[in-house]
Amino acid sequence: MSKQRMAKATATIYTCAKCDAQHAKWLGQCPMCGTWGTVSATTQPPRGTATFSVKLPHIPTLDTVVDTATTRIATGISEFDLAIGGGIVPGALLLLAGEPGIGKSTLILQVAGAVAQHAEILYITGEETAAQVKQRAERLGLPLGRMRILATIDAAVAATAITTMRPALAIADSIQTLTVPDVPSDAGGTAQVRTLASVLLQTAKTSGVPIIAIGHVTKDGGVAGPKTLEHLVDQVAVLEGDATSDLRVLHTTKNRYGPTDVCGVFSMGERGLVPVADPAAAFLTARRDPAPGTAVTAVTMGSRTLLVEVQALVTRSTFGTPARRAVGFDANRLHVLLAILAQHGGVLLASHDVHVATVGGFRFTDPAADLAVCAALASAAANVPLPYDLLLGEVGLDGRIRPVSVMDRRMREAARLGRTRMAIPAGAPDVHGVTRTTLDTINALTRALRVEHV
Ligand code: TYD
Ligand code: MG
Repeated sequence: MSKQRMAKATATIYTCAKCDAQHAKWLGQCPMCGTWGTVSATTQPPRGTATFSVKLPHIPTLDTVVDTATTRIATGISEFDLAIGGGIVPGALLLLAGEPGIGKSTLILQVAGAVAQHAEILYITGEETAAQVKQRAERLGLPLGRMRILATIDAAVAATAITTMRPALAIADSIQTLTVPDVPSDAGGTAQVRTLASVLLQTAKTSGVPIIAIGHVTKDGGVAGPKTLEHLVDQVAVLEGDATSDLRVLHTTKNRYGPTDVCGVFSMGERGLVPVADPAAAFLTARRDPAPGTAVTAVTMGSRTLLVEVQALVTRSTFGTPARRAVGFDANRLHVLLAILAQHGGVLLASHDVHVATVGGFRFTDPAADLAVCAALASAAANVPLPYDLLLGEVGLDGRIRPVSVMDRRMREAARLGRTRMAIPAGAPDVHGVTRTTLDTINALTRALRVEHV
């Protein structure tokens, strides 16, 4: 082959390790993401010239295919099993994402410990030393004898260990610390993390070993990693929580084997993460006498109903553009609800700072909470407590309040927890023991509170 043809067969392209953009020549700064020093040469396989020489695997008919998803491994940690859809699926790659320090390693070590009651597990750590993991496992009272530990940052070593040992469960902690040799870019870079995911996926699929990979995300959900990975892995579970609270929510956001709208609720304590006894009541504050600016609603996640307390703080702005902050709640939705409150309820907060937060930073997108958020804001603005234990309803741009899905389930759960004075729109079903106030418009809400034109 002439030199010219050789050059054509393996063209050199330049790839940015941060955003994965490809360029025809080397550049000091990537024009796509603006990062300096991340562009490097990679070779592209020749196009359209391939003739393959492969050994075909057995190609079965569908009726003979064994469905491993039906044989889930329940760990016995109730809230974990529930949150991931009934247990660990053999041969599946699960990504556990969360902010640093939230408790990912702790939770997964406990899960590994639970599986190790019956079979051997493999914990691959690139982040902590074997001794550090041992110390934590000892403190959590786990069966150390069946827990194999491999401290490495080499993905090839990790994959080989999984395939040869075939443990009942393998953990990769974390995906950002493992590196695949020969892939240009730093550990944790997009190209690395993506290659790593396909190596782990391949390893899980060929060995039948379930793998849980831990990935860090920052507050804005960024950083090379979990976001890039989501479409590659079988399942994604996110561990969330508020730094000020012990509560942690494990929430499945992607699941190739089952539902995604499920969650598990834990409390972080001396003995690691412990399933919460009654999750429905976990996101309420202990006090029963209502404070101004607080409202309780019932949100649903799969088959579970959770009562959540929303807290609002309204203060006069001292300068500039007034602040609008939301924790656990969509900030864009907050802007919309403030506009509706102003237009249809006469609650004018254009020169006020507004902060809305849920207890424990519990994050939800359920429109059933609209009315409670509006009521918390109106109550904070007027400095009067709400005369209701529970508010349910979606608020429209026209200021009308509409019933939401599974009203009766939400109302029954609230009544079970003693919250019987409910503010709800017309059309809601009758539930035993409930004292209801019908609220059909935002105007009716603010009139009831007498908070017009604060
Ligand atoms: P960790 O699991 O290391 O977080 P991540 O892997 O997500 O970065 O846990 C971090 C915090 O959890 C740490 O501040 C200590 C705390 N913790 C407890 O409160 N109780 C425990 O039993 C353990 C093991 C950790
Ligand atoms: Mg960790």
